[in-house]
Amino acid sequence: MSIGTARVEELPAICRLARDTDGIVGHPLHVYRILHDHFGRFMLAARDHGELVGFQQGFPSTEREGVYFLWQVGIRADSRKNGLAGELVREAERLARGAGCTAVQATVDVRNVPSRSLFSSLGYRNASFGDTVEIDGESVMPDYYGSGTDQILFQKDL
Ligand SMILES: CC(C)(COP(=O)(O)OP(=O)(O)OC[C@H]1O[C@@H](n2cnc3c(N)ncnc32)[C@H](O)[C@@H]1OP(=O)(O)O)[C@@H](O)C(=O)NCCC(=O)NCCS
Repeated sequence: MSIGTARVEELPAICRLARDTDGIVGHPLHVYRILHDHFGRFMLAARDHGELVGFQQGFPSTEREGVYFLWQVGIRADSRKNGLAGELVREAERLARGAGCTAVQATVDVRNVPSRSLFSSLGYRNASFGDTVEIDGESVMPDYYGSGTDQILFQKDL
């Protein structure tokens, strides 16, 4: 297993993985191409014998000072529970520090238990804001993206 910056030829596999993975929204290929063209340094690939088994995309926020936003993280089902997502997030934190950021944020659907555990285990805290409601013992931003999902904002100060 290895982790590194995603290569342009890996974008179709990243797109397929995102589309095939419950818990993240799979976008059209051109979205990953645009992200790679403009935020490619922050697009990470996890590989097993050269084959793509996971990815992560983040970027420094222009609207929240000092914040690096962790957008999507996905691991192929047969490669989970091997510590790969943890490695990808820790690598993203290193990239965030290198970009001068002082905090990392991610939003997680309150129903996504593995992802909630992932961020909690890595030292992230609930930083949900606005008109929050209590769900499952967590402060949650109801329908934050307008797509019918209730989101927890996780934050780790670097
Ligand atoms: C969430 C996801 C990225 C975790 O990937 P992973 O490589 O299996 O995670 P790791 O092996 O690095 O696990 C790190 C920690 O996450 C938590 N975790 C991971 N999978 C879990 C599960 N199925 N149930 C509960 N906790 C889980 C644990 O705390 C784990 O630490 P531990 O192994 O010491 O117990 C993966 O399940 C996935 O791709 N899910 C679908 C996409 C998704 O939901 N992405 C997140 C959107 S915000």
